Amino acid sequence: MAAKIIDGKQIAHDLRAEIRKDVDALKARGITPGLGVILVGDNPASKSYVTAKEKACEEIGILSDDNRIPATATQAELLALINRMNRDPRIHGILLQLPLPKHLNESEALLAIDPAKDIDGFHPVNVGRMVIGEKTYFPCTPHGVVKLLARIGAPVSGAHVVVVGRSNIVGKPVAIMLLQKAPDANATVTICHTGTRDMAFHTRQADILIVAAGRPNTITADMVKDQAIVIDVGVNRIEDASRKAGFRLVGDVDFEGVSRKASWITPVPGGVGPMTITMLLHNTVESARLAAG
Ligand code: GUN
Repeated sequence: MAAKIIDGKQIAHDLRAEIRKDVDALKARGITPGLGVILVGDNPASKSYVTAKEKACEEIGILSDDNRIPATATQAELLALINRMNRDPRIHGILLQLPLPKHLNESEALLAIDPAKDIDGFHPVNVGRMVIGEKTYFPCTPHGVVKLLARIGAPVSGAHVVVVGRSNIVGKPVAIMLLQKAPDANATVTICHTGTRDMAFHTRQADILIVAAGRPNTITADMVKDQAIVIDVGVNRIEDASRKAGFRLVGDVDFEGVSRKASWITPVPGGVGPMTITMLLHNTVESARLAAG
């Protein structure tokens, strides 16, 4: 039987309706949530992510302060911009789109962001809080994955979750979030990566398989247990002359093959992507609420 599709677009839409109520309540108190956005350079994928994030802000009533600076910007210029946003009371969240051009120091820039405005959850203080299970901002993509699993009623507690990928943005945080002794979590977690011997041995054990490898067709049907839940975090551009843009988006999972075996699966696009942006809106509004007292 074919897998049920996890409709991230619809789930994101429903969550955004709830967030909009929080925005309206803040506005009634005279507070407009504000997101400071920094994009360095002109990486096409980053540009399209940032544009989508700003559009989502506008739709829900969050003000975004758009700062696109050239790839030649210096570290000092970047730090000055971050510091200006740290001091600006109209800005409740700071989004520094990653990756940065190679000559810039990413960890120094993330460290410069006020942890209270770190709505991406990338500041080491917030990463530390997440690891020890304290309240903090969760990184948006893993947070979106956890929400998707909760919305479909996935039995996460006690399940074996296998994560493919160990990035700081997705793999590591999603593994940590799902292993916490917390609602929607409490899983047994395995993390696979490029150094893993016999990846398929591990992925076949997964009740819930989360794939954030950054490579198309990383997971094929033979690597998936019957009736597993499969979350595809990958976003890869594949050349496609039949499309106006010249490319189409595919995930890291062979959707066609795996959807014949899984119980639930996320599509790409329309799965995790809309949830990432939704959690960014959520964190920004939460920061505005906290700042308002
Ligand atoms: N690059 C890829 N994903 C993300 C994200 O969630 N936030 C930021 N700031 N940069 C990213």
